[in-house]
Amino acid sequence: MPTYGERDLMFTRGKDCYLFTQSGKKYLDFAGGIAVNSLGHCHPKLVNTLNKQSKLLWHTSNLYKNKNQELFAKELCNKTFADKVFFTNSGAEAIECGLKVIKSYWNLKNINKKNIITFKGAFHGRTFAALSAQKNPKYSEGFTPLLSGFKNIPFNDEKALLKNIDKETAAILIEPVQGEGGIKPASIKFLKLIKEVCKKNNILLFLDEVQSGFGRSGKLYAHEWAQIKPDILATAKGIGSGFPLGACLATSQASQGMTQGKHGSTYGGNPLAVAVGREVLKIISNKNFLKNVDIISRYLWKNLKNLQNNYDEILDVRGAGLLLGIKTKQNNVMISNKLKKNNLLTVPAGDNVIRLAPPLIVKRKHVDEAIHILNNTFREL
Ligand SMILES: Cc1ncc(COP(=O)(O)O)c(C=O)c1O
Repeated sequence: MPTYGERDLMFTRGKDCYLFTQSGKKYLDFAGGIAVNSLGHCHPKLVNTLNKQSKLLWHTSNLYKNKNQELFAKELCNKTFADKVFFTNSGAEAIECGLKVIKSYWNLKNINKKNIITFKGAFHGRTFAALSAQKNPKYSEGFTPLLSGFKNIPFNDEKALLKNIDKETAAILIEPVQGEGGIKPASIKFLKLIKEVCKKNNILLFLDEVQSGFGRSGKLYAHEWAQIKPDILATAKGIGSGFPLGACLATSQASQGMTQGKHGSTYGGNPLAVAVGREVLKIISNKNFLKNVDIISRYLWKNLKNLQNNYDEILDVRGAGLLLGIKTKQNNVMISNKLKKNNLLTVPAGDNVIRLAPPLIVKRKHVDEAIHILNNTFREL
C-alpha cells in the first residue's frame, strides 16, 4: 500500500553512524531510523548476539517458559520504577498494553474512572487507541469513529491540567519529550505537577517513552530528569536498536488487573528480540555510556545554538539529550531534503522542525561533520 509515498533513496549497508547506498555513497545518519538505532548500525556485539541466538532458537510462543525473557524483565525492573513487564514488538503495542493496564485497574477496583488525559501534539502510534488518544486529525482523518474516553488538553499548560482533572480521570498519558509533535520537552515543573496531581487525586501516571527513552535523553528514561516515577511506561524504538521490540513497564499495584488471559502477543518477548534487548541494555548500562551521551549531546546543543546565532532561518533549537529539533522559517521537509542531498540524514517532525536523533554512540567527529553540513546547507539557503 502506498502509505509511505515515493521514496528515492535506498541503503544496502550500515556501519556505526553511517549508511551506504549500493554505489557506495556515504550518509551520516542523524535520523537513526527515527530514534531507533541507539547503538548505530550493525554494532558488533549485537551482530554477535543475534547470530548466536539465531543458531539456538528463534521462536516458541509465550505458551512456554522463556528464561531470557524473565531475566530481561528482571533487569528492566532493577533499573526502573517497574515491578512487571509485558513485552511487545512495537511502540504502539506498548501503548495499547498500558491503556489496558489502566482500564483493567479501575475495572478491578470497580471505580468508574473513564477518562484518560492526553496532550495536544502528542503521538502514541497508529492503532485505533493511539489515534483516539492523540486526537490529531493528521493521523485520524478518515478513521472515525474513534474510541471515547480521552480528553486532549494543551501541553505544558498547568491551568488546563488543573481545570480538566475530575473524579472520572483514570490516568494521565504524556511523552516527557514530544517527538513527532516537534521535539517539545515537557517542563520539569509540569512533569512534577502532573505527578503531584496524580498522587492527590488517585490517578495513574502513564509515560510514553517510546522515543525519549532508552538512553536518548542521557538518562535511561527521560522522566528521571524530573525525579518522578510513573505507574506505567511504554518503551520501544531504542530498546532493540533496530530489532523490533517494545515493552510496557508497570508497578505491581498498577498492573493488578492484568491477570491470566487479559492480554497476549504471539511474538512479544520472542527469543531473538529478547537476546538483542538484553545486550542493548547491558551496553547502555556500562559505567560511562550515559555520561558520554550527556556530554556529546551538550556539545551538539552548543553547536546548534551557535548555528542559530548565525542564521535567521533558525527560529528555535530545542529538545533533550540526543533528541533535538531545529525549528526553521522555511519548510522543514524541503530543508531536510537539502541536508539529505548534502549527505546528512535527519527526520522532519511537527511544528516545522528538523529532528536530529543520531545513534547514542556518536562522537565529536560525527557532530563536527553534521554541523559542517548544517552550516553549509543553511548558508546555501
Ligand atoms: C512517542 C511515541 N509513541 C509511540 C510510537 C509508536 O511506535 P511504533 O511506530 O513502534 O508503533 C512512536 C513512534 O514514532 C512514538 O514516537
